[in-house]
Amino acid sequence: MMSIKITTEPVIETAYSVSTNSYPIDTIRKDFPILSTELRGRKLVYLDNAATTQKPRQVIEALTAYYEKENANIHRGVHYLSEQATLKYEQARHKVKEFIKAGVNCEIIFTKGATESINLVAQSYGRAFIRPGDEILISTLEHHSNIVPWQMLCQEKGAVLRVIPMLDSGDLDMEAFDRLLTAKTKIVAVTQLSNVTGTLVPVREMCRKARDLGAVTLVDGAQSTPHLPIDVQEMGADFFVFSAHKLYGPTGVGVLYGRAELLEAMPPWLGGGNMIRSVSFEKTTYADLPDKFEAGTPDIGGVIGLGAAIDYLQDIGLERISQYEEMLTDYACARLELVEGLQIQGSPRARRGVISFTLDCVHPHDIGQLLDQDGIAIRAGHHCAQPLMQRLGVPATARLSLGLYNTAEEIDYVALRLQHSRKLFLS
Ligand code: ALA
Repeated sequence: MMSIKITTEPVIETAYSVSTNSYPIDTIRKDFPILSTELRGRKLVYLDNAATTQKPRQVIEALTAYYEKENANIHRGVHYLSEQATLKYEQARHKVKEFIKAGVNCEIIFTKGATESINLVAQSYGRAFIRPGDEILISTLEHHSNIVPWQMLCQEKGAVLRVIPMLDSGDLDMEAFDRLLTAKTKIVAVTQLSNVTGTLVPVREMCRKARDLGAVTLVDGAQSTPHLPIDVQEMGADFFVFSAHKLYGPTGVGVLYGRAELLEAMPPWLGGGNMIRSVSFEKTTYADLPDKFEAGTPDIGGVIGLGAAIDYLQDIGLERISQYEEMLTDYACARLELVEGLQIQGSPRARRGVISFTLDCVHPHDIGQLLDQDGIAIRAGHHCAQPLMQRLGVPATARLSLGLYNTAEEIDYVALRLQHSRKLFLS
């Protein structure tokens, strides 16, 4: 076992260490050009990965190559460039299918992000199949993007939104889930990993129980997909969504996975080119999956970039990334807890990559700004999860979120600067 050498002198010794055992951290860091840039005269320490991740050279080059050598519209042209672009775009769909272990390529729909994917399900599946009095079950841990689309649907259809409460630990109250899940429940929509507490949610168990009662499930994988190997069939999710930009790919691209049988039964959501079989002023018939849900010209370059991001992650191996990040998360929790006056929000049974905290005398926004002066990027605020903030009893938190390129040294540096910031505020 090889341990990361801590170059910044530790503030206080911890019992934790991070083993890089065959994890190519130095090579990985070199793949990300932005990590060697300076911010405010200091080396960038990027710890805002839950908001968006940095991009490796391989993704940037795939985007550039597309625009320099392959740019054309897809599914329409008979010329060489259009065929090439179509091929690359459809290859990316296949890569996504393999990445999340879906059954067939047509179960992968490209959208502009996880948010749009959830709205697609709410607007298409929800409008077609939800009736007055039906119940939709979400959880306290949800991001606004997995709350508001369901509220809009409930308002339109006279359905009822129910919320699985959270325990003080930051875990979901699974006994309450069992009580709230009834024959009235038609949709269960939950995150797999909280963007605030880092809680890993037992989505497999929840999907199984929901299916037993005839409810369909949507798992929000926006935060989990960069950290864990995903197998949607083993998970038993009917729908699974994620965004490319949190997965080291470009912004503006997302994925909706849906079981083919459900997607087939759903009406289209957006109308336009590409999603039709035939159009007349009297009647339009729709294309087969996946085109039925891909109206208009998509972000072709972005989808190809997502394919490159997936290749990059597969080359390192999601299992390896996951193991490394688990160690780093434990290390970061242990290290931050040693900062006087710092309180980590929640202590879930399993946490990955995301740690929110408050510091007794310093407002989270001030923490963010002070760390920014040291070249450290974190997020401060309500993290698009206001109901969860209310449950935690705080208006905002500071949040450190890890990616595959972060190191124990960076965590040490943050801990050191947090201690310094606290002293500044107390003096
Ligand atoms: N959902 C992103 C976050 O948690 C933007 O920061």
